[in-house]
Amino acid sequence: MRALEHRNLLLGVCGGIAAYKAAWLARALVRAGAHVTPCLTGAATRFVTPLTFEALCGRPCLTDDDFFARGEAIAHVEAARACDGIVIAPATANTIARIACGLADNLLCSIVLASRAPVLLVPSMHTAMWENPITRSNVARLPSDRFRVLPPETGDLASGDKGAGRFPDIEAILDEAAHLLSPHDLDGRRVVVTGGPTREHLDPVRVLTNPSSGRMGIALARAAAIRGASACLILGPTEVRPPSGPAGRPVEVVRVETTAEMADAVRSRLSGADALLMAAAPADEAPSRPRLTKVRKEDLPRTLDLRPTPDILASLPRPRGLVTLGFAAETGDPAGAGRKKRRAKRLDLLFANPVGAGSGFGTPDNEGVLLGPDGEEEVPRMAKEDLADLLLDRVSRLLARRPPRTGRPAPG
Ligand code: CTP
Repeated sequence: MRALEHRNLLLGVCGGIAAYKAAWLARALVRAGAHVTPCLTGAATRFVTPLTFEALCGRPCLTDDDFFARGEAIAHVEAARACDGIVIAPATANTIARIACGLADNLLCSIVLASRAPVLLVPSMHTAMWENPITRSNVARLPSDRFRVLPPETGDLASGDKGAGRFPDIEAILDEAAHLLSPHDLDGRRVVVTGGPTREHLDPVRVLTNPSSGRMGIALARAAAIRGASACLILGPTEVRPPSGPAGRPVEVVRVETTAEMADAVRSRLSGADALLMAAAPADEAPSRPRLTKVRKEDLPRTLDLRPTPDILASLPRPRGLVTLGFAAETGDPAGAGRKKRRAKRLDLLFANPVGAGSGFGTPDNEGVLLGPDGEEEVPRMAKEDLADLLLDRVSRLLARRPPRTGRPAPG
């Protein structure tokens, strides 16, 4: 994940029952490419051990023993200086209160006080504590230009009660941490993304479709939201979970089934958009006479009578200044076919990739050639999440060259 790659993160863990879940978070942050220094409060070490975090992060775990140790190093100042961002998960009511009051009586709170890095707090506690006016006012006191709070989820609690206070999904915390450290180059931008296949029904149980998984569109919408855009994802039928996006930048997900529905959804969401990223693989043909009831196999036609579906890109109005990105999955010569398609579809950018042999369609990674106004760029095989960031770099560069859309303030 680009925003977290090679970034120095301090992971603060407080003493709540969700402390064991912080081990999964540590692993996910390391997998996302961050250099993670764990820091456990005294209470946290009664729930989980520093050794667990040292093994997962590959670094020494900071505890209050370092804070009160004799020696030359001043642990809190050194750690504060070294980090690009701080994630405190779980953040207990106690630690939130201490931070809000500017207390510095343990290592974690002292690092927060000594650092200027952005902080993400992931509160997790019993509903009564979370909803207590004292906790609410402590959260409200945190300066909003430096502190972000990811609200807890609602559900079953360790006490057996149900309510707000659960530790959120690891993916939601990752998105929030990435948003905290992202370049925010798409702040104030509106991005419409399509993803997945579409389905055209022959009868209620049979469809024409393709193996697109939707992963490219999902990765683009997620990365755009992390980089600050207001993202709308128009998604065909897929089992892959759509992204939720950071709490302050939720991704709007519009589910569609047919190509005509996708075309309508794109048209209705395009007003005010700065970029249209067409990662979907819409079905090009639909049965001419779909049946409303199931056709028995002995009555199935030997040949299908088809009609073309709308070509979404060809039929769309193109507001001035809109940056467009299309995809072309090709056998044979992807670059050659891509050049023709880019011209025919009037696209700024087109990513052409070879299909077959486990590549491109329905897979977690992709490779190909990116065609654009600045020339052609070979893109080596990489995870679709990384490809999404690379493509958004190029989109962002084109957006920066264009005048702001009329009637809207310039972003940033
Ligand atoms: N596309 C579209 N509407 C369609 C089909 C495709 O807008 N009905 C978009 C895709 O989202 C993609 C680009 O057009 O960004 C190229 O898609 P592709 O399927 O490669 O092109 P087709 O026009 O369908 O051409 P062909 O299948 O003949 O290669």
